[in-house]
Amino acid sequence: MTKICCRVACRPLARVVHNMTALVVESPVPEFNVAYINNDMPVTPSPSTPTQKQPVDSCNDVRNPMIAPKFWTGEPSLAPVVYEIDCSAYDMTLGLEHPENASLVQEMLDRYEKIGLIHLRNTRLTDLQVMRSWANRIVEGDDSDYKGGANSRGPIENNVYDTGAPKEAFLHYHHEMAYLKRSVGTVAFCSSASIDDGTTRGAMFVSDSVRASEDLLSTPFGQRLKEKGITYIRCLTDREAYKHVPKGWNGLDEVGVYNHWQRSFGVETPEEVEVFAKEKGLSTQWGPNRYLKTKFRTDVFEYFPALDKNILYASVADDSMWHDNWPGVQQLPTQENYEDATMFERPLKITYGDDTEFTREELLQFVDVYDKYGLPLNWKNGDVAVMCNWRWVHGRPSYHLEEDEERTLGVVLGKVFDRRGQHEGKW
Ligand SMILES: [Fe+2]
Repeated sequence: MTKICCRVACRPLARVVHNMTALVVESPVPEFNVAYINNDMPVTPSPSTPTQKQPVDSCNDVRNPMIAPKFWTGEPSLAPVVYEIDCSAYDMTLGLEHPENASLVQEMLDRYEKIGLIHLRNTRLTDLQVMRSWANRIVEGDDSDYKGGANSRGPIENNVYDTGAPKEAFLHYHHEMAYLKRSVGTVAFCSSASIDDGTTRGAMFVSDSVRASEDLLSTPFGQRLKEKGITYIRCLTDREAYKHVPKGWNGLDEVGVYNHWQRSFGVETPEEVEVFAKEKGLSTQWGPNRYLKTKFRTDVFEYFPALDKNILYASVADDSMWHDNWPGVQQLPTQENYEDATMFERPLKITYGDDTEFTREELLQFVDVYDKYGLPLNWKNGDVAVMCNWRWVHGRPSYHLEEDEERTLGVVLGKVFDRRGQHEGKW
């Protein structure tokens, strides 16, 4: 049996069963009440938070005004004919093992090996489970171990969870689960409801990380990333500290909350958190109000055996910039330093591996390099896309839905692997 679970373009889920493939469904979310968030925020920065000091080069200032990704240049970095497969000649409901579908399966495997990206078009499939079975021919997921610092999501039906990201937020390009010592090699997406109006509204974008790597490594910033690595700071609030705070945009998280450590780790005590955090390779520190702060230092590049090469495996998606237009969290300032971080600041941040800060120019460059090699996947109902999590990053702009529109995207997460970081001599 396959486990279906969800994440929105895919921050990890807290409670997921092991040894199963995860199908994440990105579904419509309740309308966000802007007036409520702006005017009625129940938490305010404490007197000691740096927002009130406003140093000229504060981390918060470095990220303002907001740096919005463009996702592409307006022209796809790769011709669609290279990665799109027209399935109209096949009856995919017959399954992968049917002789009439053998040539389609072979084409999927061949193109994936060569490019690391396939987009199945005109499948005429309507059932997410059937789409998942096709994606799984390549994904071959075997684990869904996603505890540790994700946003909230809840089940929307049996074994199916909402994806956790609001449509109002753009999602920066990212490799899935880059911020943990265990990541996934492949990610797939299945569309059972799409906007499909001839524009890129509701589209996902993917960017060629191999070309982005070469580009970035030719610059001083890329060389600094190679030398210093990256530190992921991810903080989680205590559910008890928000007992009397109203729920926000998704009816699950209180205003000011990204996720509580109880939900993220699926535990009730700090002692249990410590056990899971250690398993994940996270160092931890507890702040006021049982605010859990975690740190993970790793390489920015990751060795990819199939190409025998180190590939860029990080982005700004794990920075406070992730929350630039995230309802309920966007109003919080970027934390100035790990030691003094509080629940009144945004929970995520990246620094160099030696804990030094990124400059605004460097963050801009980090966003630009992926925008340069991006292309849109314009979903139609029944589409399935499979991508190598080393060779491609994915993200999406914010979008809106008209009254009669729906956008449902399932995510299948592949085999988990232990990150090995960059290898010497493999550039
Ligand atoms: Fe994702």
